[in-house]
Amino acid sequence: MPAAADRAAPVTVITVDGPAASGKGTVARRLADHLGFAHLDTGKLYRAIGLAVLRAGGDPADPDSAVPAVQTADLSTLSDQDLLSDEAAQAASRVAAIPAVREGLLQLQRDFAADPPGGLPGVVLDGRDTGTVICPDATLKFFVTASVEVRAERRHRELLARGEQSIYMVALAEMNERDRRDSTRAVAPLRPAEDAILIDTSGLDTEAVFAAVLRHVAAALG
Ligand code: DC
Repeated sequence: MPAAADRAAPVTVITVDGPAASGKGTVARRLADHLGFAHLDTGKLYRAIGLAVLRAGGDPADPDSAVPAVQTADLSTLSDQDLLSDEAAQAASRVAAIPAVREGLLQLQRDFAADPPGGLPGVVLDGRDTGTVICPDATLKFFVTASVEVRAERRHRELLARGEQSIYMVALAEMNERDRRDSTRAVAPLRPAEDAILIDTSGLDTEAVFAAVLRHVAAALG
């Protein structure tokens, strides 16, 4: 694998930010596959830390429990299915509000973007702050969003499909709560980068969303 300094061409970095259940994860993964780029779901890093704290019996909102757990962050364990649970999502949102946790994950994400595994020519980073904080100089930035009702409905269906119990009104309340926490925190609050392309997926199916994203990619990268 070429070291970052040995690369013949600069790494193409595409960031896909947006709120929970906006469809950003699907777009980012598919785009990475389509372009032959590496993909990093940065939310999984926060989920892994939140879950590690819960498993150790700690409080994800407590820096004394969450900050040491950053040392356990490992890119090779992000396929753990437990990271997809609602419990992990809620814990992630709490650890993500702690500045020292964000600081602790910053370099790992930037290193991944600077030198994607396997010497791949580009990377798609997906998360809440990849275009604003992690890679402000990214080649191309997307902000994928949808109304809170549409996102709560998607989340509700996803939980039912996984065999978990779910009530739409509870999913809506939790989505509003997570949005509030993610957007009002002091560090790296959820917001679109000024130069991000906004994609509203509320009335679109996944094919239409991906087609719109590809048009922008073709226009920007040729
Ligand atoms: O995208 P997700 O649902 O997997 O993210 C879980 C939580 O992690 C989310 O509530 C906010 C936080 N997060 C963050 O603060 N910054 C990121 N880059 C990614 C996720």
